[in-house]
Amino acid sequence: MYNVTLIPGDGIGPEITEAVQQIISAAGVDIKWQTVNAGANVMEEYGTPLPEEVLQSIKKNKVALKGPITTPVGSGFRSVNVAIRQKLDLYVNLRPAKILKGAPTQFSDLDVVIFRENTEGLYAGIEHNVGDNAAESIKITTREASERIVRAAFEYALENDREQVTAVHKANILKLSDGLFKSVAEEVAQDYPDIKFNNKIVDNMCMQLVQYPEDYDVLVLPNLYGDIVSDLCAGLIGGLGVTPGANLNDQLAVFEAVHGSAPDIAGEDKANPIALLLSACLMLEHLGEEKAASQIETAIEEVLTRGEVLTADLGGTATTTELTEEIINQLGVE
Ligand code: NAI
Ligand code: MG
Repeated sequence: MYNVTLIPGDGIGPEITEAVQQIISAAGVDIKWQTVNAGANVMEEYGTPLPEEVLQSIKKNKVALKGPITTPVGSGFRSVNVAIRQKLDLYVNLRPAKILKGAPTQFSDLDVVIFRENTEGLYAGIEHNVGDNAAESIKITTREASERIVRAAFEYALENDREQVTAVHKANILKLSDGLFKSVAEEVAQDYPDIKFNNKIVDNMCMQLVQYPEDYDVLVLPNLYGDIVSDLCAGLIGGLGVTPGANLNDQLAVFEAVHGSAPDIAGEDKANPIALLLSACLMLEHLGEEKAASQIETAIEEVLTRGEVLTADLGGTATTTELTEEIINQLGVE
């Protein structure tokens, strides 16, 4: 049995986390969930959208599964999602983008793993107004944070038999900040002679990923580019509904989908649980439950390939409940 922190989140979060709990249980993995809440819904009770008990629970259990949490636009409320990553120093945002069998995409050959720097860059949150008609946002790039994310990407490549790491930047324009990231990446690459290394400017990277997706393997990017390029990759593999993620450091792991709380469909039993389910598969692998993870992935691919029970984002008409049942039934077949 494993102790895992569960943060249901808001919007579609509670619907998809419940679906994922059911599927994991059907796959025979015994998890004792410790549920803690964060976001606008807990503001009144705790006076903060991120109660200390959420962070304590993650520190205690070391592993968490997290639903999306809404960030109200334009209010003083900073993103709880970003705050969790920063307060726990979860410096790796891992976002694998692999085309699953049966996924609704016209692309055929994308299997990249994105390592997004998760603690600094333009997400450092240092912004101010300059008079009434201008504003400044400060982008922080340090050698330490750049080095550990690049090293994490190379270590992953070594452990997972990946051939190439590509560092992505805009060092031609941001000569100091991205220039540092690029030169640190070049230095770290020297320690991994068996892994090919190259670098790409971020705008060109976007075009290359669409035109020649098969040429790329592991990508390592500063925070904002990682955010944007991972959504681009999500689009290439079939959408946010099928793109998983994880926030990691050397001790802690918080697994969450790339997508947000989807307020436009929340509470309607329409959300696709697969992205969070694939994030949970990463969690199961992290826990050493590789077999259950691969059984669930195979069940997802079977259901996608059959194409009869799909949510609207995948071109179908099924509800979250129906898709969840279909995946559970498929697990039973194997
Ligand atoms: P979003 O990812 O929530 O939604 C974008 C579009 O994709 C919407 O049309 C939505 O219906 C659809 N979509 C997303 N996930 C889906 C799923 N599982 N099944 C079916 N359709 C899905 O992005 P948006 O609208 O920019 O953000 C909404 C809220 O979520 C914002 O408050 C944002 O700050 C927050 N957010 C939270 C994240 C997190 O918790 N890590 C990540 C991204 C956004
Ligand atoms: Mg994003």
